[in-house]
Amino acid sequence: MCDDLNLLLSNLNVFYRKLQNYHWNITGKDFFTTHEKLEDYYNEINEQIDEIAEHIISKDCRVMATMKEYLETAQIKEAESKKIRSEEVWKDVLQGYETLIENCKKIKEEADSENAYTTSALMDDYLKDYKKKCWMLNQVNS
Ligand SMILES: [Fe+2]
Repeated sequence: MCDDLNLLLSNLNVFYRKLQNYHWNITGKDFFTTHEKLEDYYNEINEQIDEIAEHIISKDCRVMATMKEYLETAQIKEAESKKIRSEEVWKDVLQGYETLIENCKKIKEEADSENAYTTSALMDDYLKDYKKKCWMLNQVNS
C-alpha cells in the first residue's frame, strides 16, 4: 500500500504543476473563468499533496519527496511550457482526474482488505471530490 500511496502522491505533484502551467498559459475568450477555475483546482490538489504525504508518514512508510522521484513514477505527464486553448486543457484535466480515481480505487481496495479504516475513509473523500469534478468536466467537454 505504501507504493500505491506514493504513486498517488507523485501523480498529485505532477498534476499540480500541470494545472498551474495551464493557469498561466491558457488563452482565449474564456480566459478569466478558466484561469480562475484552474487556480481553485491546483489549490485543492496542493492541500491533498500535504495530506497524503503526512498520511504516508503516519503509516511508517517512506514518503517520496523529490521532483526526480515524482517524474519517474507519475502516470500523469507534464505539459509543455506553451500557450494552450481551454478545449484542450479541460480534456486533459479530465484525464488527470480519471487517473487519480483509478489510484484511489486501488488504494481503497487494499485498505479495506487490511482494515485500514482511515486510509479507506480518506479515499472516499477523494473519490467523491474527483468523481464530481469528472461529471462537471464531462459537461464542459460535451
Ligand atoms: Fe495566478
